[in-house]
Amino acid sequence: MTSVSDYLFWIILFFSLLFSLNYVDATLPTFYPKTILSATESSCVVLVFSGKTADEKVFGLLQSLADVSFKDEPAVVVGKLALERDLSNFWPDSQPLKVQNELKRDILNQSIFVFGRLIKDRSCLLNHKKQMKLPTVFQYDVFPKAVQRSVSKMSEATRSIVNEINERCVTFRTTDGSINFKGLHRKEILENLFHISADSHESSADKDIHSYSFADGNESKCYSKTKGHCDSNICQIKEFERPHDECERIRVPSPAHFFHEYLSLSKPVIITGATDKWLAFGKWTKNFLKEKYGKTRVHIKATPDGEYEGVQDRSLWDRHKRFRIPKEVEEQLPYPDLVVERPASLDMLFSEFLDLIENISRGNVVNMSAYLEYSSINDYFPELKSDIKELEFINMIELASLNIWLSDGNTLGKLHFDPFDNLLCQISGEKHVTLFNPHNNERLYEGHMQETQFSYNKSTRSFHRNRLLDSTSMVMSPVDLKRPNLKRFPLFADARPMKCSIKAGEILFMPAFWWHEVQSRPNVSEHRNLAVNFWYKPFLTKEFPCPECRLDVNPKYYHLL
Ligand SMILES: *[C@@H]1O[C@H](CO)[C@@H](O)[C@H](O)[C@H]1NC(C)=O
Ligand SMILES: *[C@@H]1O[C@H](CO)[C@@H](O)[C@H](O)[C@H]1NC(C)=O
Ligand SMILES: *[C@@H]1O[C@H](CO)[C@@H](O)[C@H](O)[C@H]1NC(C)=O
Ligand SMILES: *[C@@H]1O[C@H](CO)[C@@H](O)[C@H](O)[C@H]1NC(C)=O
Ligand SMILES: *[C@@H]1O[C@H](CO)[C@@H](O)[C@H](O)[C@H]1NC(C)=O
Ligand SMILES: *[C@@H]1O[C@H](CO)[C@@H](O)[C@H](O)[C@H]1NC(C)=O
Repeated sequence: MTSVSDYLFWIILFFSLLFSLNYVDATLPTFYPKTILSATESSCVVLVFSGKTADEKVFGLLQSLADVSFKDEPAVVVGKLALERDLSNFWPDSQPLKVQNELKRDILNQSIFVFGRLIKDRSCLLNHKKQMKLPTVFQYDVFPKAVQRSVSKMSEATRSIVNEINERCVTFRTTDGSINFKGLHRKEILENLFHISADSHESSADKDIHSYSFADGNESKCYSKTKGHCDSNICQIKEFERPHDECERIRVPSPAHFFHEYLSLSKPVIITGATDKWLAFGKWTKNFLKEKYGKTRVHIKATPDGEYEGVQDRSLWDRHKRFRIPKEVEEQLPYPDLVVERPASLDMLFSEFLDLIENISRGNVVNMSAYLEYSSINDYFPELKSDIKELEFINMIELASLNIWLSDGNTLGKLHFDPFDNLLCQISGEKHVTLFNPHNNERLYEGHMQETQFSYNKSTRSFHRNRLLDSTSMVMSPVDLKRPNLKRFPLFADARPMKCSIKAGEILFMPAFWWHEVQSRPNVSEHRNLAVNFWYKPFLTKEFPCPECRLDVNPKYYHLL
């Protein structure tokens, strides 16, 4: 039952609210520095200053952004800043309000402030609490000299502020609240991303095809996925029974064809005939390289068994009990008992390296694998650049680096992704690449893992697991593709691979964030595997490590929409 005093309370509240508000800012929510910080964790915040000198036109404009243009846009919240704030002592920790352009105090009452969404720092697990993370802030003058304050010019002012907000907040709205053309194009791209076909009809037919045998080779224990759980820790998937797609193979595409059919769909493809004119093929013989660069010092990578960046039990490493990474970091690791094994790093003359890989490939040196990995051609071998050509069909995105990959030929680069669009160009030998798409990264268990590094003792010619590092890897999968532990990583059973094999003269386009494991094979007469790759700033990008984060168009390329 409601009493008389309750009624009285509501009546007083109603009138006090009525008198304290004026008609324009009735519905704009009020923000304080603290609430701005919490709101920017999920959205951009667009505010007007409400003070004694507040401008009614600016309030009206903000109201229309809130009621119309960004009404259905979850990425933007519109409001007013409570009262006149002390800008030099603005944030909860007393830091001043800094704007990216120059702060203009004289026009505060005709300004709109855009506080950008706080992008979570996923790369650093340390120190994240020490300093308050503040959003970037932009101050916009609603009525710069060119825009008169007349009513007829208000739509112009609105249009330009909507465009500015779109740019700062990564939104695609028109003044009337609909999605603009670029936004529709982006939506279409994201709705049509390529998926491995075996991936899309997984829950029905292929359950029967699926069977696993234990890693110890006890075939009698084979079981079908439908029959329930594995009763050993490690099951091995019979790769030939796992449904997979084969990579499409095409001749050199036009830039438009490449963009629409592969790059914007995030679809891997093998391209043939694109390197026909490269001098590299006949020219980069062992003798030529030795003569030209034999005296160059190179950093090479080496492992005992040809596996690069595999994941292993931490307990195999010397001093694993004594070496502790900061507790704060360890607590954030999803698999603190696993480590990524980085190869040993050795310095030698390039001529020594060329001999070493030939010796390994011929079987004269055993229990060692050597790799010159992702080494910049510009830094090490600048003149070689003229023997390869940048590829015309990918001219719409920006090159990040050009690398050379040279090894004894029997290397396995373990399952990982790179945040770049990749053109991998095979020059000698073959690469057999197993790919998994970046759409269900829960299945690949994306996350931070502690790093370790092999050391190599030159006098005993042996490798040691004795360097635990305090860094983490963000791009490796903890799942061992050859011996997946399905008890620990059960979702991996639903991941479907795609197989792409390239030989000399072929190029694999591997879109950014596709997981890949690369088995190299040598050219048997040259005793080596040689490739170059172009890494491009990705067209489709995502936050990482973050299994649930999805691909989106890189804002850097909005001009292509
Ligand atoms: C804006 O503020 C200035 C002083 O800061 C004042 O002179 C001016 O009249 C204000 N404009 C409006 C429209 O209130
Ligand atoms: C294979 O499985 C059978 C039955 O479970 C078991 O008795 C046998 O020891 C296993 N063999 C190996 C090599 O593990
Ligand atoms: C490679 O093998 C040759 C012949 O056995 C030997 O002379 C040379 O020292 C070896 N070089 C390296 C780097 O292993
Ligand atoms: C190479 O490694 C295998 C297995 O660890 C070992 O049995 C063999 O003795 C090693 N060979 C040499 C030459 O070190
Ligand atoms: C390499 O091994 C030898 C023999 O065990 C040892 O004396 C030496 O200290 C080791 N070198 C390094 C750098 O660990
Ligand atoms: C291996 O290299 C040789 C010498 O360059 C070449 O003639 C041959 O075609 C290559 N083999 C393959 C399978 O590409």
